[in-house]
Order: sequence, then C-alpha cells, then structure tokens
Amino acid sequence: MKNLIVATAVALTLGMGAAQAEGDATAGAKVYKKCKICHALEPGKNKVGPSLHGIFDREAGTVEGFRYSSAMKGSGITWNDETITAYMKDPRGYIPKNKMAFPGLKKQADIDNLLAYLKQETM
Ligand code: HEC
Repeated sequence: MKNLIVATAVALTLGMGAAQAEGDATAGAKVYKKCKICHALEPGKNKVGPSLHGIFDREAGTVEGFRYSSAMKGSGITWNDETITAYMKDPRGYIPKNKMAFPGLKKQADIDNLLAYLKQETM
C-alpha cells in the first residue's frame, strides 16, 4: 500500500505539467475530514467556517450571514483549482491575517484529491 501511495505521488508529480492532476474524490473525502469540524457542504449552513457549497467560482468572503475577517473579505480572490490549492498549501501565507485556524495541507496529492471531492460535492 505504501509503495502504491509513493508511486501515485510520483506519477502525480511527473504528470503535472500545465494541466492540473486529476484527483481521486474517494481519497478526497478522507482529506475533507480535516475540514468537516469547521465547514459544511450544505448551502447556508455555517459552522466555525462558512459553508463550502458552491465554492468554485465564488468570490472569497461572500457567504451570507458569515462573519469573515476583513483580510478574507478584502482578498479579491475567486475560488478555483489554483486559488484553493494555494490557500490549502499555506493558509496564513496566502491570505495574511485571515482567521481560518488550519495549518494547511502539505501533500499535493491530498490537495488534488480534496479538489476532486469538493467538485463532486459542492457544484
Ligand atoms: C478550525 C476551523 C477550520 C478548519 C479545520 C478549516 N477551515 Fe476553512 N475556514 C475557516 C474559517 C474561520 C474561515 C473564514 C476565514 C476568514 O474569514 O478569514 C475559513 C475559510 C475557508 C475558505 C474560504 C471560504 C469563502 O467563503 O471565501 C475555504 C475555501 C476553506 N476555508 C476551505 C477549507 C478546507 C478545504 C479545509 C480542510 C482542508 C478547511 N477550510 C479547514 C475555518 C476552518
């Protein structure tokens, strides 16, 4: 199993030219467990973090009824594969002073899988 994971990671790294690597939504569901305490996927359901329903192509900081930091509201970011990847890699570095208390995801494969899962569940 471990070899398979390593092989997959290598394949993903090598395969990532201009095109975004294809993630695995089933594996992404496991990654999403890290987000679940703070984020719901249902529309209108805000927890510690805003609902992630419809997150793709949504402007940052625009879920109704959620009290965002001014850093998030003023970020001018639109969420897509690239921006979510950058935010997941380094939440504090990408949007300084945003209030998401999450250290980020180190592995590109985890992020790719998470994106596949989010697309499946939120679009
Ligand atoms: C400890 C709680 C917590 C965890 C865990 C967490 N988040 Fe967040 N998240 C937040 C908060 C709070 C905000 C709002 C930040 C702000 O306003 O500065 C946020 C904002 C976001 C946004 C921007 C939403 C918008 O409407 O603009 C995205 C995307 C996001 N989180 C994705 C994730 C993903 C994916 C994970 C899991 C890998 C995750 N978060 C884990 C609390 C959390």
